[in-house]
Amino acid sequence: MCNNIRPDTMERITTKALADAFIDEQVKAVREQVGDKKVLLALSGGVDSSVVAALLIKAIGRQLVCVHVNHGLMRKGESEQVINVFGKELDANLIYVDATDRFLNLLEGVSEPERKRKIIGAEFINVFAEEAYKLEGVSFLAQGTIYPDILESKGVKAHHNVGGLPEDLKFELVEPVKLLYKDEVRVVGDALGLPREMVYRQPFPGPGLGVRCLGAITRDRLHALREADAILREEFDKNGLAGKVWQYFISVPDFKSVGVKDDKRYEGWPAIIRAVNTTDAMTATIEEIPYPVLHHITARITAEVPGINRVLLDLTPKPVGTIEWE
Ligand code: XMP
Repeated sequence: MCNNIRPDTMERITTKALADAFIDEQVKAVREQVGDKKVLLALSGGVDSSVVAALLIKAIGRQLVCVHVNHGLMRKGESEQVINVFGKELDANLIYVDATDRFLNLLEGVSEPERKRKIIGAEFINVFAEEAYKLEGVSFLAQGTIYPDILESKGVKAHHNVGGLPEDLKFELVEPVKLLYKDEVRVVGDALGLPREMVYRQPFPGPGLGVRCLGAITRDRLHALREADAILREEFDKNGLAGKVWQYFISVPDFKSVGVKDDKRYEGWPAIIRAVNTTDAMTATIEEIPYPVLHHITARITAEVPGINRVLLDLTPKPVGTIEWE
């Protein structure tokens, strides 16, 4: 398994036994590759980087240095979960960087979506590189590259890649799941004992809530978005929709409409619900959410989230609409 092409003979990992065998094989391979050197990993808390982290902790323990950069655009509770699972339960060598102010200051007043993405991607590299320069004896960089990333690296998703580290930070790569498909990575994550909500987490864009807080991001609207999104996720969980819908989230545009609250005029932003099903994110259909659930979500968001006075439902398939609003 040393090149980037999956051999036809490679069995699809679908069971705990196959995952355990894969883990044993990779633990051995990683130990051989890195010896007693340190390995650096950007740990976002997404499925791929989390599974790589758990696998490498099993192989080399605290020789793995995980860096979790909180860009201030994470969903509610996500950074806390990374700290709990990796820092506390798995005793990882974890560096937590709260870079919220750096990102939000740079993004202030920037409304153009591609510029927002570029700023977030470039600053992520800056923060990560700064941490890497502080460390000594790191020779390897681990990445949660999976097989579709290799297949798609020249395709339509190329614009999602944020670019590389500076030239003088040269590491040898450790990519233990690079020949696996997403479903296999999940089976391996389960076998490694990672929490279900981490292993079955829905896809979340690298720029995070940055592409859902539409237009120029402000802290108050970002806060409203994060709270409304947490309510949506909680209600989807409770109502059995979480396992049924591929991706669901809230976007909050940068305009207000008039409303009324406690007998007073109340200007607020709309929260837009997007819930789609797809297999490859290239096309998507709309999930039918029962009206009573929608009414309940609307009641909760408008009552509990300061700044939101309407809840809207996006019924547009892809195409014509992309999944994200930006
Ligand atoms: P669109 O909006 O293009 O999204 O229909 C397709 C899938 O890609 C995710 N997405 C991103 N992922 N960086 C990422 O890592 C990005 O900039 C980005 N933009 C969209 C989106 O959430 C959906 O799953």
